[in-house]
Amino acid sequence: MPTVEEYSESELASRGLVREGLPRHIAIIMDGNGRWARARDLPRVEGHRRGVNSVRLIVEECSRLGVEQLTLYCLSSENWKRPQQELDLLLHLLEQFVIEERAEIMRQGLQFSTIGRREGLGDGVLEEIQKTIDCSRDNTGMRLCLALNYGSRDEIIDAVQTIAGKVAAGDISASDIDDECISTHLYTSGMPDPDLIIRTAGEMRVSNFLLWQISYAELWVTPKYWPEFREPDLIEAMKDFASRDRRFGGLSE
Ligand code: IPE
Ligand code: IPE
Ligand code: MG
Repeated sequence: MPTVEEYSESELASRGLVREGLPRHIAIIMDGNGRWARARDLPRVEGHRRGVNSVRLIVEECSRLGVEQLTLYCLSSENWKRPQQELDLLLHLLEQFVIEERAEIMRQGLQFSTIGRREGLGDGVLEEIQKTIDCSRDNTGMRLCLALNYGSRDEIIDAVQTIAGKVAAGDISASDIDDECISTHLYTSGMPDPDLIIRTAGEMRVSNFLLWQISYAELWVTPKYWPEFREPDLIEAMKDFASRDRRFGGLSE
């Protein structure tokens, strides 16, 4: 089963990185497609189209850097407020991406998954997603997770409803509900929590993304718009991450 060739220690060193300092899980809020387009007098949808190039480049670079998981925020539960025309194009681009990138996902040996509610994505998109999930199931490379119609509050609501149902049925008792119980009922069950959150286009907010899971993630925000985000920007974020003193509420080592 092919996987992408990971950078050697010296290739990492030439980028100013060491293996031990790498985040295991990077999650990206890919923002600024519309502003990128507006700055060029192009329609917003052109920004989304160009954003797909950044996705391809960053997926491969993360894979080569030996990142265990990359989660990309593609469509939030609040994005349905946008004009139907923009939503139609976003869903079309998503379907195209899942079809066209399937061969690339297999070449890099990526394990593909999604988080979010299925409603509204359309049967065609869901079918193509399922095909890609199925064919990449036995891969052993980086996990690539797309957050689609994802909202962290929806996720917590779904988890609480499931857990409450189990308590009502007598399968578990209220006192069994702990950190692990909640984590395993989220869409991200089984995934490591993100270590590094990257947000493009400058906004200092998390926009309903992985609220439970990012409790101790490091945040890194760049003013660059997503369509212009490239490998050197990712490396810059990772170098900054490596310099952080992660205390998790304790004291420095
Ligand atoms: C991010 O770019 C993509 C999605 C949210 C789907 P935006 O479309 O939010 O771009 P801006 O923030 O309007 O520039
Ligand atoms: C966050 O971007 C969602 C995605 C990147 C998919 P938004 O553009 O929707 O966030 P807000 O509205 O500026 O908070
Ligand atoms: Mg935005």
